[in-house]
Amino acid sequence: MPTVTSLAARLKMRDGHSIPQFGLGVYEMSDSETYNSVKWALEAGYRHVDTAEWYENEGACGRSLSDWLKSSGTPRSEIFFTSKLMHNRTYASALSDLRLSLKKSGLTYFDLYLMHSAIGGPEIRKEVWRALCDAKEEGLVRSIGVSNWGAKHIQELLDRNAELPVINQIDLHPFMRHPEIVDICEKNDIILEAWGPLARAMRFGHSVVVKAAKAHKKDEAQIMLRWGLQHGFVVIPKSVSQKRIVSNANIFDFELTKEEMAELDDLDEYLVTDWDVVDTA
Ligand SMILES: NC(=O)c1ccc[n+]([C@@H]2O[C@H](COP(=O)([O-])OP(=O)(O)OC[C@H]3O[C@@H](n4cnc5c(N)ncnc54)[C@H](OP(=O)(O)O)[C@@H]3O)[C@@H](O)[C@H]2O)c1
Repeated sequence: MPTVTSLAARLKMRDGHSIPQFGLGVYEMSDSETYNSVKWALEAGYRHVDTAEWYENEGACGRSLSDWLKSSGTPRSEIFFTSKLMHNRTYASALSDLRLSLKKSGLTYFDLYLMHSAIGGPEIRKEVWRALCDAKEEGLVRSIGVSNWGAKHIQELLDRNAELPVINQIDLHPFMRHPEIVDICEKNDIILEAWGPLARAMRFGHSVVVKAAKAHKKDEAQIMLRWGLQHGFVVIPKSVSQKRIVSNANIFDFELTKEEMAELDDLDEYLVTDWDVVDTA
């Protein structure tokens, strides 16, 4: 069980770059909520922000980041910025959508760019993935990955000996463990990034989570996030509250025991908190 000791801790990815294991998710935030949340997170020591074309807040994320970099004197290279392609259509549209996202965010490159889903079928997936590989060669993105890809989609890449994603971002928390996807990713050195790491607050109050929280004098959100870290997942909790942004990151001073991890592992109930497209054709 890896011991994670700092908010700045990074995991090495298969392409040689590294990703902070903890970050801020900004789904379903207005522009003003996004601007403030990103600022509060950076002030609290977060160095990783996860947005998407879909969230319609790449601009607010980028503005908040640029303003903070300027006022704090921090170099851009210390921050890890992810965005995602909403639609899988053609090679050309993938590249033009990526360029537009960069323009909106005001950045010259993304640290990570993900296909938001595997939707579209094998031929479209192949074309869009080729576009992402070329975008990386061109320097528009440092690393490329996927999101909501099932085991069969990863297998498709393996079968044709294609470049593998560095990350698969899927819904991962004690109540949704996706063992088959986790297994194929871990065997192939693809890091799992947990979206919905708090299960969208839908299972707070569960006795197993409450018990661990009491034992460590932590709150339930902190227990769920720590579970993700100790599994070696990247976790990107979302909050629009400054207090929660700070408390969610206060998880580097304790360790769940083997027994607590096993009890949390046993909670898997295939809880869908948002969309579920890992089985798409
Ligand atoms: N790739 C994908 O398809 C996909 C899908 C969904 C999400 N994501 C990414 O993953 C990120 C996180 O997932 P998510 O936003 O779906 O869900 P989440 O992080 O599991 O949960 C967010 C919810 O929990 C609440 N919350 C946060 N901290 C809390 C705390 N300490 N105590 C109580 N409640 C707390 C938030 O409310 P407040 O804001 O009011 O604090 C919000 O309602 C997203 O923001 C996005 O970046 C990706």
